[in-house]
Amino acid sequence: MNEPEPRKIKIFDTTLRDGEQSPGASMNLAEKTKIAQALVELGVDVIEAGFPIASDGDFEAVRDIAKNVRGATICGLARCCDGDIDRAWEAIKHSERARIHVFLATSAIHREFKLKAGKEEIIRRTIEGVRRAAGYCSDVEFSPEDASRTEIEFLRDVVTAAIDAGATTINVPDTVGYATPAQMYSVISQLRKRVSNIDRAVISVHCHNDLGMAVANSLAAIEAGAGQIECTINGIGERAGNCSLEEIVMALRTRNDYYHADTNIVSPRLVPTSRLVANITGMKVQRNKAIVGQNAFAHEAGIHQDGMLKERTTYEIMRPEDVGFTKSDLVLGKHSGRAALADRARTLGYRLSGEQLNTVFAQFKTLADKKKEVYDGDLGAMIEQQIHATPELWSIRSYHVSTGSGETPEVKLTLCRGEEEYTTEMACGDGPIDAIFLAIEKLTGISVVCKDFHVHSVTVGKDAQGEVMVEVEHNGRIYRGRSVSTDSIEASTKAFLNAINRIAAIQNKEEGSE
Ligand code: KIV
Ligand code: ZN
Repeated sequence: MNEPEPRKIKIFDTTLRDGEQSPGASMNLAEKTKIAQALVELGVDVIEAGFPIASDGDFEAVRDIAKNVRGATICGLARCCDGDIDRAWEAIKHSERARIHVFLATSAIHREFKLKAGKEEIIRRTIEGVRRAAGYCSDVEFSPEDASRTEIEFLRDVVTAAIDAGATTINVPDTVGYATPAQMYSVISQLRKRVSNIDRAVISVHCHNDLGMAVANSLAAIEAGAGQIECTINGIGERAGNCSLEEIVMALRTRNDYYHADTNIVSPRLVPTSRLVANITGMKVQRNKAIVGQNAFAHEAGIHQDGMLKERTTYEIMRPEDVGFTKSDLVLGKHSGRAALADRARTLGYRLSGEQLNTVFAQFKTLADKKKEVYDGDLGAMIEQQIHATPELWSIRSYHVSTGSGETPEVKLTLCRGEEEYTTEMACGDGPIDAIFLAIEKLTGISVVCKDFHVHSVTVGKDAQGEVMVEVEHNGRIYRGRSVSTDSIEASTKAFLNAINRIAAIQNKEEGSE
């Protein structure tokens, strides 16, 4: 007998909205559009592109994505009030498929302390907000914020009213990550059983990870009949983050025997998308993170390695290539040609334009001269640098650093801005990197507070490339910079300048609009 088709669960990705609410994860318009395109390739059903009323930047990013990204529903978030809903519609109206996501808190704590509103007023506002959104488009999602701490009878009333007013998706947020799997199962089951018009809406859940249960809670909701999961790449999001997309997707696919449910996700795109989001946001993925962490498929113990050699399934429940890890860490050398590099890049999940390939090939040749073997990690780092290049207002012409034990490090630095060259006389610092950072601040006139700085090696060996990530604060906002090189001073200099260039780009834009 044929197995029944698995039930299709919609994936609603909120990396660009809730994910961007992670401290320091803010992204610019070009970066958001790149992520939205990658999410389409990944196969997500709905992209929550942002919260258009939050700022002009948010509005522009949502509008840009709605105009240019095809292949998924584009959703804009709105509080339950006219101004927000109108602005959300303005931002998404050019999309192929548009959704407005309206939310209003329903729990007693939020009613009393945040909204200072009684139950009747909440119901009235829900109806008005959903009706207004439904006047603009037929796809309306309503979220009773803090649903998991809302009295179940009241939750039922709000949900019934929202569906009657035109909501086509009812999202149940565990806003503060307080729910447990059994509770989530019970809430969804009760809504399904006791809300008379529930068959007119898809039930969705949006679980936060404060107690580390976001994925488990989302899976419990699916067992109870939820048809949509809200999640983010790498699980980023407010506080401890959201349900991780890669984990929920692979849990459903690997345990299809149990859940009888699946998604439209193209799983080999998981690792490339995870890397893209990590590089753009600067939020590194922990090594042991399920599915996309560097160690997720590494077998260290001898007994495990022995088992793997005899039969892979002894210790592996998924194949690395199914989530986008390449089977081999194939090594390229200085005799490898352009075609081999292009092929390797494709296998790693990158689609490079001819021009990008030319640049990466030139960089690869330089690297292969310095390093005998170029690994996948090296190649990935070079490609990421190339495809996420930000416009460079300032670039490095040259630098010279002198340092030694017991000596004050000194640096002479020349930067270019357009045709002009700017040189510092000797600048001093606590260490060579500090001296370079100070010299850059002096030449560009942009002062920052360095919040984070870390170097890690991209691959193995003494000649491995170092990847430097810096995080700086300027006028209350966080900016990130990244660079890779076999020379860690060069990587640090470029990473810091990368962050400064992001600030300079914003300053330029602001000056232009004055
Ligand atoms: O966590 C939450 O409640 C939210 C809503 C806006 C859905 O992010
Ligand atoms: Zn949230």
